[in-house]
Amino acid sequence: MKWFSAPTALGLVSVLSFSLSTGAQQTFFNAPGSYASYDEGLFTPLEDLSVLSETQFTTLSHPAFPAYSVRVKKSNFCDESVKAYTGYIDIQARHLFFYFFESRNNPEKDDVILWTNGGPGCSSSLGLFMEHGPCRVVDNNTTKFHPESWNSNANMFFIDQPIGVGFSYADYGETVSTTEEAAVDIASFVGIFFEHFRKFKGRAFHMAGESYGGRYIPVFASAVFDQNKRLEEGGVTPINLKSIMIGNGITDFYAMIESYWAMVCTPASLAPVLDIGTCVAMKQAIPRCKKWLKENCVDQFDAINCGASATFCDSALTGPVFTQSNKNPYDLSKSCSAEELNLNLCYPITMNISSYLDIPRVRSQLGVHPKVGNFKSCSNAVGIAFAQQLDEYRPTQHYVAALLERGVKVLIYVGTLDWICNHVGNQKWTEELEWSGHEAFVDEPLREWTVDGKKAGLTRSANGLTYLTIEGAGHMVPYDKPKEALKMVNRWLDGKDF
Ligand SMILES: *[C@@H]1O[C@H](CO)[C@@H](O)[C@H](O)[C@H]1NC(C)=O
Ligand SMILES: *[C@@H]1O[C@H](CO)[C@@H](O)[C@H](O)[C@H]1NC(C)=O
Ligand SMILES: *[C@@H]1O[C@H](CO)[C@@H](O)[C@H](O)[C@H]1NC(C)=O
Repeated sequence: MKWFSAPTALGLVSVLSFSLSTGAQQTFFNAPGSYASYDEGLFTPLEDLSVLSETQFTTLSHPAFPAYSVRVKKSNFCDESVKAYTGYIDIQARHLFFYFFESRNNPEKDDVILWTNGGPGCSSSLGLFMEHGPCRVVDNNTTKFHPESWNSNANMFFIDQPIGVGFSYADYGETVSTTEEAAVDIASFVGIFFEHFRKFKGRAFHMAGESYGGRYIPVFASAVFDQNKRLEEGGVTPINLKSIMIGNGITDFYAMIESYWAMVCTPASLAPVLDIGTCVAMKQAIPRCKKWLKENCVDQFDAINCGASATFCDSALTGPVFTQSNKNPYDLSKSCSAEELNLNLCYPITMNISSYLDIPRVRSQLGVHPKVGNFKSCSNAVGIAFAQQLDEYRPTQHYVAALLERGVKVLIYVGTLDWICNHVGNQKWTEELEWSGHEAFVDEPLREWTVDGKKAGLTRSANGLTYLTIEGAGHMVPYDKPKEALKMVNRWLDGKDF
């Protein structure tokens, strides 16, 4: 979920206080430690996770990752039909929390999916407990088995990242403020997990996310892909990265610009919601907004000018949706006041999730570190840090193209009622993407896909790239359309056509 949706929050921050050191992009793999060869005999990986304790963490380390370790415990909660684990991947002073659920089908054979929510700064507990996890929070104190969970046919991770989000923490106040920096920890996390839990070694792996995940996932998957070379050099089995999946994402910010207007001023999904005067003013701002963003963020990155352009575009093109309408920006078919948006992102269940995750009994069951304070769906500090770095204004689509060229498949799925990361913009960037499959992809007509004989949305697919809409769903597709979302994922994992 992109949560800093009040454009003022993003805009003001980026213009008033962004750091001037933002020009340089972080490079991957300045991670501590090396992947030097190691003696296989020194290390006995865990063959079976179920030997782990439920009351205490077991700490695992690995000579190929000298700076990292894993604390993991069994956590019999949420889905009693499968084995569930929680823990931390410790990267020196940085500690990333994860939930891991085995597949309800065949954990020994099924693929592994890693899921992250967006923000930046939002916890994957939102995905788990309100979207497609094995259980849903039903009130402040209770969860309920969720039949349409994505672990129906896959082993699933939910990860709180970067540090500072959800139950993840750092020892000395370290922070992460760019996606490239966050990717270093994620690639390490993935490397060390597969090396430790040997039964999953070499297993087909998919990285999935939503919203700001449209930026995270292509960068994270690229880090995992590039890391493989070093893993192999160090005698470690490479990660079998098969695909990425992005739901209602922000990937190519530049291609999205016009869609913020189209979604509320044309019948792109529903009847126009803004008045004519506002729509005309928005439309007139588009050429200037595009020109400035192109000059200052796309053609070359200039932190001051890119920040100023972004502020202008936010106030001209996204501001009116918050000030002139009472719509839920994640679902234009619903109303939501500014107060509700602030309080609970327009979804009251997020408050129930927070209450549930603050119960001492739940915290101890999960093994949450005492250092972690009250649960917050989204961390303001992380959101602001990323905004200060203008992290959103980076050309993430190039990572997608690079993955496609290397045989990693890409699923871009979009609930059509969402405004904030909408289908108009996502369709546009997938059509404009520069890669060797470009022509094959755009030549493919959009056609219906169905679930149980009923139209679920539109799709097109070529050379490994699939674009797909889910009609009647907002930003959080599995929350609104659990059945369609599960069918979609299962077909994708099966490699079947839509
Ligand atoms: C909350 O749930 C626990 C465990 O299911 C139960 O023992 C407790 O009575 C519940 N508390 C309330 C206030 O419902
Ligand atoms: C949250 O829990 C309360 C009961 O504690 C319940 O009345 C309410 O409906 C729940 N909200 C949602 C959105 O599930
Ligand atoms: C549930 O928690 C919310 C705050 O997150 C609180 O406002 C509400 O009163 C709680 N409901 C109950 C039944 O305790």
